[in-house]
Amino acid sequence: MSMVNILVFAGSLRKESYNKKLARVAAKSAEAAGAKVTLVELNDYSMPIFSEDIEASEGPNQKVTEFKELMKNADAFFICSSEYNSSISGVLKNTIDWASRQADGEKPLEAFNGKVVALMSASPGNLGGLRGLVHLRSILGNIKMLVLPDQLAISQAHEAFGPDGSLLDQGKQKAVANIANRLVEVAGKLKE
Ligand code: FNR
Repeated sequence: MSMVNILVFAGSLRKESYNKKLARVAAKSAEAAGAKVTLVELNDYSMPIFSEDIEASEGPNQKVTEFKELMKNADAFFICSSEYNSSISGVLKNTIDWASRQADGEKPLEAFNGKVVALMSASPGNLGGLRGLVHLRSILGNIKMLVLPDQLAISQAHEAFGPDGSLLDQGKQKAVANIANRLVEVAGKLKE
C-alpha cells in the first residue's frame, strides 16, 4: 500500500497561534505514524471573503486553486481549529466555502468527498475550543467527510507547549499520537 498523504493546517492566521503550534505537533505525529505530511499555513493562501458575485465575475483566485489542489491531492486532513465565539474562525469557514465549490471538470465536493479528517483545537480557555469542534464536525460531515470520533481540545493553551514545541502534558502528547495513528490507519484503509 502506498503512503497516505495528510494535509495539516490550523484555522488561524495569528503568528503565535496555539493551533499552528498544535498543527506542528500533529504533523510530526502523523509523520511518525508513517504518513507523508504536508503542513501549511492559511496565511500563505489568501482568499477574498467568499461571494457568489466574485465567483461569477472572477472565479476562484490562484490561492484558492492552489489550496484546493493540496486538498484534492491529500487522502486525509488533520485540522487544528481556533474557537471564535463558540464556533470556528472566519478564515477556516471561508476556506472551506471556497474549496467546496465545484470547478469545471471536478466532481461535486471533490476536495472532501470520502476522505477522513481528524480534528483538534487549542484555546487559552477551560474548554480548549471544544464547542467549535462540534460545529466543524457537523460542517465537514455534511460535505461528505468521514470525521474521526477521536478528537482533542487543549485547554490553557498558553501554558501547554514547551520550548521545543511539544505538549508539556505527556498524556496529551500521547493523545495526539493516538489520533494521528488512527487517522493514518483509516486513511490507509480507505485507500485500499
Ligand atoms: C476568541 N477566543 C475564544 N476562546 C474560546 O475558548 N472560546 C471562544 O468562544 C472564543 N471566542 C473568541 C472570539 C474572538 C473573535 C477571538 C479573537 C478570540 C480566544 C481564542 O481562543 C484565542 O484568541 C486563541 O489564541 C485563538 O486561537 P489561535 O490564534 O491561538 O490559534
